[in-house]
Amino acid sequence: MKQSSVISPSILSADFARLGEDTQAVIDAGADWVHFDVMDNHFVPVMTIGPLVCKALRNYGITAPIDVHLMVQPVDDLVVQFAKAGASMITFHPEASIHVDRTISLIKESGCQAGLVLNPTTPVSVLDWALPQLDMVLLMSVNPGFGGQSFIPYVMEKARKVRSLIDASGLDIRLEIDGGVTVDNIGNIAAAGVDTFVSGSAIFGTDDYAKTIAGMRESIH
Ligand code: DX5
Ligand code: ZN
Repeated sequence: MKQSSVISPSILSADFARLGEDTQAVIDAGADWVHFDVMDNHFVPVMTIGPLVCKALRNYGITAPIDVHLMVQPVDDLVVQFAKAGASMITFHPEASIHVDRTISLIKESGCQAGLVLNPTTPVSVLDWALPQLDMVLLMSVNPGFGGQSFIPYVMEKARKVRSLIDASGLDIRLEIDGGVTVDNIGNIAAAGVDTFVSGSAIFGTDDYAKTIAGMRESIH
């Protein structure tokens, strides 16, 4: 069964020089979670933010769930560090971990919810044995590494397919999407069965976050 909708703005597009303030602003504007993109200049050709910044957001007073998206290799050491730094859920790419089951268990033992991230062409079969262990599946609708890219259309069909797998499992597993989500396409993405929406540039690139998030919610329903 599809869960309630969640909007998780990607702070990759926030103002890093005023990160606490800008993150609080997007929460005050109606966002549910904070999407935290971790890039290592190895798994993806970009470097962003790590556990110290996650901890700093918690110390600043951010209480919303922090949805940590690890685009790093190796994965496991950072799982433990992010759990200590206040992450609520941690997702990782199966290509980045040699022992996927072990990494999923480590995330859960560390007290966080666990998710697998599928790149646009990563086959859905990677979920065959992993799905029952997961709290969330994250579908990339762009190639990871950059904000502001366009939604890859074939991922819509993939979302429908994963939705049916989750429904068939009967488990409470969220289906999240990340990349190129806008007010204009979010309605169709929701109709494909997605319940959790990451959006960076389409929220932080607007002047009125509350108006944009309200517009997204309206299109979802
Ligand atoms: C891409 C990141 C995304 C990114 C999305 O590697 O995982 O979270 O910030 O940005 P937009 O919404 O601008 O496509
Ligand atoms: Zn992301």
